[in-house]
Amino acid sequence: MNTDQPDTARVAVVTGAGDGIGLATAQRLARDFEHVVIADVRPAAAFARAAELGQRHLGVACDVTNESDVVGLFDAVLQRFGRLDVLVNNAGIGEQSVMTLEQTVEGFDRILAVHLRGTFLASREAARHFVAQQSGAIVNLGSIAGLAGHPGRNAYGAAKAGIVAMTEAMASEWARDGIRVNAVAPGYVMTDLVRDLIARGALNPSDIEDRTPMARFARPEEIAEAIAFLASPSASYITGVTLPVDGGWQAFGAPPARLGRVADKRESH
Ligand SMILES: NC(=O)c1ccc[n+]([C@@H]2O[C@H](COP(=O)([O-])OP(=O)(O)OC[C@H]3O[C@@H](n4cnc5c(N)ncnc54)[C@H](O)[C@@H]3O)[C@@H](O)[C@H]2O)c1
Repeated sequence: MNTDQPDTARVAVVTGAGDGIGLATAQRLARDFEHVVIADVRPAAAFARAAELGQRHLGVACDVTNESDVVGLFDAVLQRFGRLDVLVNNAGIGEQSVMTLEQTVEGFDRILAVHLRGTFLASREAARHFVAQQSGAIVNLGSIAGLAGHPGRNAYGAAKAGIVAMTEAMASEWARDGIRVNAVAPGYVMTDLVRDLIARGALNPSDIEDRTPMARFARPEEIAEAIAFLASPSASYITGVTLPVDGGWQAFGAPPARLGRVADKRESH
C-alpha cells in the first residue's frame, strides 16, 4: 500500500475480479477509486491481478459462498484501508448447460449458492459498514437470462432473477441509510464463461449475433462502464434498478429474421 494516501481515500471491492467482467470493472474503478480490492476464489488470480493494478490495490482470496471467507474479506479491507465505499457483486459461474430434466440437484444448488448466497453474504457484510457510515453503493450482476426464459439455463436464470429481486429489496431496505443498490443485466459478453459455453457446444456465437440488434457480443469494458456509472455519484438518485447492457437484446421482441442475418450483411459489404 502507498502510505502517502489519506485514510479517507475511497475504496471499492469487486468479487470475482480475477478475470472477465470483474477484472475489467476493477481496472475501470481504479480510475475513480484510490483502492480497489480484487476478491476471487482463485487466490493466485486475485493476488496477480491486484499486483498488476498497482501497489495501492489489494488482492484477497475469497469464496463468496463461504460465510467466514466473506466476513474475512471485509475485515481485511477495513483493517487495511479503514474505509469501504462500493461493493460490486460480480462473482459468478456458468450453467451446467443441460435442460431442466437433466439437471442435477448439486449443479442447481451450486449455481444458486455462488450467485444468490454470494450476493446476499457480501451485501450483508458490506452493508453493516455502509449503514454505520450512512453511505455506500452496491452494484450486482444480473443477466438477460434473469429477465426472460433461456432454455437450458434454468438455475442460472432463476439465480439472476433472484438477484434482480434482491437488488430491489436491498435498495428499498437501505435507501434511508444513504445506500444505493442497483444491478446491470449484461447480454452476451465475450469472457471465459461464454468461451466455455461455446467450447462445450452450448452456445453458437452466430445465433447470438443474429438475435442481438447490435449484432455483436459485448466487451467486458462496456459492462464495466455501466457498473462504474451506477457506483458513482453521477447515479445519486438511482436505486433499485436493473440496467440492461445488452446491445438491444431485451428491447427486441420479433423473430430474429426481422433483423437480417449478420453473415449476410457482412457479405454484402
Ligand atoms: N459473460 C457473460 O456473457 C455474462 C452475461 C451476463 C452476466 N454475466 C455475469 O457476470 C459475472 C462475471 O462473469 P464473467 O463472464 O466475467 O465470468 P468469468 O468466468 O470470466 O469470471 C468469473 C470470475 O469469478 C470468479 N469466481 C467464480 N466463483 C467464485 C466464488 N465462489 N467466489 C469468488 N469468486 C468466484 C472466477 O474465479 C472468475 O475470476 C457473473 O456474475 C456472470 O453471471 C456474464
